[in-house]
Amino acid sequence: MKMSNLEKILVNNPIRSRQVSHYAEKMLKRIDFQAGQTYLDFGCGNGAAAINLATKYPLEIIGIDVDLDQIRLAQQASCHLTNVRFIPVDGTRLPFDDGEFDIVFTNKVTHHIPNWLEAVAEMARVVKPGGHLIYADLIAPNWLAQLGGRVMKQTGFPTSDGLETLFRQRCLRPVHASITSMHYEVVLQKV
Ligand SMILES: C[S@@+](CC[C@H](N)C(=O)[O-])C[C@H]1O[C@@H](n2cnc3c(N)ncnc32)[C@H](O)[C@@H]1O
Repeated sequence: MKMSNLEKILVNNPIRSRQVSHYAEKMLKRIDFQAGQTYLDFGCGNGAAAINLATKYPLEIIGIDVDLDQIRLAQQASCHLTNVRFIPVDGTRLPFDDGEFDIVFTNKVTHHIPNWLEAVAEMARVVKPGGHLIYADLIAPNWLAQLGGRVMKQTGFPTSDGLETLFRQRCLRPVHASITSMHYEVVLQKV
């Protein structure tokens, strides 16, 4: 679901954009990545993180987001770069082949998607065997997810149980994890 204008002001501010860029770079460094590999930023927002990576590393990067305004910002900011492009796409139906990406990254996106499990399944689908999924977002306890899902129809309530079941089913094995009761950060490799 698209963000409100207030959320966009908060999310697009330069300080947060810098923080998110550093975060994406820190997470990328957890992987032994190679030049020329394909990288998907799922829910890329204004593109700051993807642009930072495209400037520093010879990766082939695609950013997708459901919000055309955010995609336009990303396209404008990256018009001088040849190794990154941004396309408006609903992440629950990715227009990519199975196993198209070496690396899929997503940060603070799935709690915006009511059918978040479909979105995570799509991320898992487009990761190559041997490739990596870097997932980070807020999580909810099961009781809140059940209640919230009934009351707040526009919001996603990812749960650790739901994520872990899906990761197991899709042969995604954790190589790094930092999980609290409210936040789930994991780097997974597809076997
Ligand atoms: C809080 S922002 C995070 C943006 C960026 N990942 C970051 O960390 O700055 C959430 C983003 O998810 C996007 N989003 C929400 N629903 C989506 C969907 N179904 N498919 C793709 N992107 C979606 C929103 O448009 C928004 O840009």
